[in-house]
Amino acid sequence: MEMLKIKNLSKIYDGKVAYQALSDINLTIDKGEFVGIMGPSGSGKSTLLNMVATIDLPTSGSLIVNGKDPLRMKHNELALFRRRELGFIFQDFNLLPTLTVEENIVLPLTLDGKSVKEMDQKIKDVADKLGITSILKKRTYEISGGQAQRTAIARAIIHHPKMVLADEPTGNLDSKSSRSAMEMMEQINKEDGTTMMMVTHDPIAASYTERVVFIKDGKLFNEIHRGDNRQAFFQKIIDVLSLLGGNTSDLSSIRV
Ligand SMILES: Nc1ncnc2c1ncn2[C@@H]1O[C@H](COP(=O)(O)OP(=O)(O)OP(=O)(O)O)[C@@H](O)[C@H]1O
Ligand SMILES: [Mg+2]
Repeated sequence: MEMLKIKNLSKIYDGKVAYQALSDINLTIDKGEFVGIMGPSGSGKSTLLNMVATIDLPTSGSLIVNGKDPLRMKHNELALFRRRELGFIFQDFNLLPTLTVEENIVLPLTLDGKSVKEMDQKIKDVADKLGITSILKKRTYEISGGQAQRTAIARAIIHHPKMVLADEPTGNLDSKSSRSAMEMMEQINKEDGTTMMMVTHDPIAASYTERVVFIKDGKLFNEIHRGDNRQAFFQKIIDVLSLLGGNTSDLSSIRV
């Protein structure tokens, strides 16, 4: 079953000089898959994710998410679709500093008018899962980067989205917090069957996914599958990255 079907998708940014950020992308992601998107800086990774997130519009091509076409939805329908079926995780966490951890996590449900009882139960479940029960009453400036990203993950999944879209979720984390965040995402993917699409520069983070799709100059370059050995997958990722160009020599000694 398909969660995402992208067909002949192209994106041209208009500006003083028009720029083609994506050319003729075809990509299918099955329900329950955990897919990584990698490629050099400026290759179009965030552009692709933003098309799927319906944050930005493609210039041509089609996009079907969970059987629906967001490009044909009216404004309100699209807002609901985004809020109910998708979850987002960003590099800078995007938490609201005036709210507590708990209030941040529950925000998507508050917007949807859920009962307090239902929200309390969901908060409890998700905080448990992510190991952040003890910091629920803290404000976001009182927690560490790793805790902030777990909070952001909790907020992204509290409404049981069909698909989570993550752009460099470990970009601001040290390697220990980064692994921990990836273990959480892997667990949510396995246990809840949540489909995940994650853009990352980090080959270790990418090694937690099941498939990595590489983009170069706005076009699909290659894709590789994990199989059952994460260590070997990590090595394959490094190999493709070095094919793609860019300096990866400093990565070869990293332990996974
Ligand atoms: N709003 C915009 N207007 C014009 N050009 C843009 C816009 N957003 C992105 N671009 C250009 O499109 C290309 C792809 O950008 P994108 O942000 O998708 O790259 P990326 O692969 O996510 O890079 P990074 O790894 O640095 O985040 C880049 O050349 C960028 O300059
Ligand atoms: Mg980007």
